[in-house]
Amino acid sequence: MTLMSRLLTAAAAVFAITGTAHAQNAFVTADRMVDVESGRLIENAAVLIEDGKVKFAGDMSTVRMAIPEDATRIDLSGYTLLPGLIDMHVHLTSSSDYHGYRGLALSDEMSAIIGVVNAQTTLDAGFTTVRNVGAGSFGDVALRDAINQGMIPGPRMFVSGPSIGITGGHCSDNNLLPEEYKLEGEGVADGPWAARSAVRKNIKYGADLIKTCSTGGVLSKGTKVGAPQYTVEELTALTEEAHSHGLKVASHAHGAEGIRNALMAGVDTIEHASFIDDEGIRLAKKNGAYLSMDIYVTEYILGEGEAAGILEESLEKERMTGQTQRDNFRKAHEAGVKMVLGTDAGVYPHGQNARQLSRMTRFGMTSAEALQAATVNAADALGKGDTIGKLAPGYFADIIAVQGNPLDYISILESVDFVMKEGVVYKSVD
Ligand code: ARG
Repeated sequence: MTLMSRLLTAAAAVFAITGTAHAQNAFVTADRMVDVESGRLIENAAVLIEDGKVKFAGDMSTVRMAIPEDATRIDLSGYTLLPGLIDMHVHLTSSSDYHGYRGLALSDEMSAIIGVVNAQTTLDAGFTTVRNVGAGSFGDVALRDAINQGMIPGPRMFVSGPSIGITGGHCSDNNLLPEEYKLEGEGVADGPWAARSAVRKNIKYGADLIKTCSTGGVLSKGTKVGAPQYTVEELTALTEEAHSHGLKVASHAHGAEGIRNALMAGVDTIEHASFIDDEGIRLAKKNGAYLSMDIYVTEYILGEGEAAGILEESLEKERMTGQTQRDNFRKAHEAGVKMVLGTDAGVYPHGQNARQLSRMTRFGMTSAEALQAATVNAADALGKGDTIGKLAPGYFADIIAVQGNPLDYISILESVDFVMKEGVVYKSVD
């Protein structure tokens, strides 16, 4: 890790010179602001920020408090303000440059560097919070801590550490080499007690949540998308263990049976949810579980995946999955299942996370619902609904600005011009 520490020191130096890591009290004004909860626009918006938190957010004419003299004025005339976006399914230490066998060339050190670069790219794109669901060598923990300590710019991260799953399963994702190489995923744990122990280990080394896999996947060699992985007994043990420590569980699940198994075990979010059936929909609603359906990434995989090194067997699995997932996104949403924005950034290039929002509207959501999935719903699914996801007194000052009205044209969120996280400006309009 010496390389990592040197790199972080260098990044910190650059960061200090540009002077952006400084939280100031600020008074931001803009043409309007989206109230994501009501899905309504507030004209003549003003946000007062003190110590990295929102003191007031709303219509300028209703500000009933003195603007402190030391507050920096930030004039965003012509812009619309929104709370910073949240992506519930990213892999910051992964890159779309290392698909398939190319991934075998990736060292832990290179993954860490990739993470530093992607953290900045993601924040610049307007994502002030991410949930990182699966990373090797606790590189996600190091990245989160470096960001929190102000060493490098990046989104607020909630991290899982290594994904926990069965031998040869999607979460071990190490099926590329023959047996004599003895390659095994870090989070492999077979049986209820091994699963509990893997949870304990991830907590010991800094995880904020647990990521598991209850079915095969598209990009893992030799796994079946539709086939369950882990028994209900194993998933229940894992989930109970995580919950008893106050951690939430995200389960990767494409196939209907594995989705039901994970929901029966009480997991908090289902990732992908491609082949969810009526019973899965019923269970998700009953439990209040969220679905995180990555309906943009299929376009990247089928469009650019082959050139990016994705294996033919994975392309074939994607061809069988993508359209059904979109249809089921519509169906689950119509049925009233709670949804968050989760994109699987890292499979496609980081920074393009907002592209999924327009797909969510194409497959049944209103613009306001897509924005809620990327803000208040995501915050709630993280258990952080009282600190992030909206612009209201006491919330972190995570603010982005775009030119135009995202409720009319959601794709405008693919071009975020201003980014503030916890009162610190990371991207400003010139
Ligand atoms: N990481 C996921 C997997 O390998 C990506 C799935 C992408 N496909 C999709 N239709 N969402 O299973």
